[in-house]
Amino acid sequence: MIPHSKPTLDSKDFKAVLETLKSAHISQGAKVEEFEDKFSNFIGLKGGVATNSGTAALHLALLALYIGEGDEVIMPSYVCSALLNAVSYTRATPKIVDINEEDFNINISAVAANINSTTKAIIIPHMFGLSADMEGLLDLGIPIVEDCAQSLGSSYRTKLTGSFGALSIFSFYATKMMTTGEGGMLLTNSAEQIAAIRDLRDYGGKRNYKIRYNYKMTDFQAASGISQLSKLPDFIRRRKEIASYYCSELSDCGIIRPSVPEGREHIYYRYVIRTKKNPDELRAKLMEKEIACGYGVIQPLHHLLGLHAKDFPYTEAVSNSAISIPIYPSLKDDEVETIIRELKAVLEED
Ligand SMILES: Cc1ncc(COP(=O)(O)O)c(C=O)c1O
Repeated sequence: MIPHSKPTLDSKDFKAVLETLKSAHISQGAKVEEFEDKFSNFIGLKGGVATNSGTAALHLALLALYIGEGDEVIMPSYVCSALLNAVSYTRATPKIVDINEEDFNINISAVAANINSTTKAIIIPHMFGLSADMEGLLDLGIPIVEDCAQSLGSSYRTKLTGSFGALSIFSFYATKMMTTGEGGMLLTNSAEQIAAIRDLRDYGGKRNYKIRYNYKMTDFQAASGISQLSKLPDFIRRRKEIASYYCSELSDCGIIRPSVPEGREHIYYRYVIRTKKNPDELRAKLMEKEIACGYGVIQPLHHLLGLHAKDFPYTEAVSNSAISIPIYPSLKDDEVETIIRELKAVLEED
């Protein structure tokens, strides 16, 4: 079986984690600080706060913007429910908008049409490893939280995603661009926000009371993060290599391949194609050939919330045609060949 996604871990990662475990300092400590410094330097921001998940980082980012009951936060429909959860934790109201068919990212006109006096932020996930149109979004003048859970290492006009918004968040879940098992990071240039977020991340050792969280990362997870970060350029190189092979080999089989607009760099967290065939049937047929494929997004948010499909024509079109084929650094050349051969065979069937 070729899995749809898989972490890429090696003896260097295992050694780093084991050494930290042996040091007996395993909760949040020096390794977490080192990871925060290295990670924020990599993206080019002044401060980082590591967390136990991307969702926790997103929740803290919204709290740093003082978002709460009565506020609205805009987000696209074509994304996982983690965004919906983070906004709901703050008791703010999520405002769900449509996407672009071409890049799977949030649609700027739909965002603009939904801004009102209660709009406090826009969450911009850069879907599948390709940046949204940041210039157009920044022009709207609403604070942006960049969700880089899927876009670590990708750039827009030569600047890395995560360096445009008021704050940015990342996820290090098992199958993300790099992993700490579970984990997240929040970045910002504001020292004031960093201090507020650090305070909220940890309930311990305080002499006053307010609602705080236990959103801490452990030192052994951070050790994995430091080790994985050092290999990120290699991971991206291999993902791009596989994507370019898919792109040339799948050029004439009636599917829409990912397209990359001028000035943006795709790091292919996912290779999502669109087909005129029924994507569920396609996935099932490939599964029979022992190739596991994903959805892109399993269920758009407007479905989860029971909103009118007619208000989300592009999300509808995409989710009725998308299929995500395996791509990850440890995918072997012969597995790539198998995927191409079997996918072509299934696409050619009547
Ligand atoms: C775009 C996006 N944002 C946020 C998250 C949440 O991250 P985590 O699973 O680390 O909480 C994910 C996870 O898949 C994601 O894809």
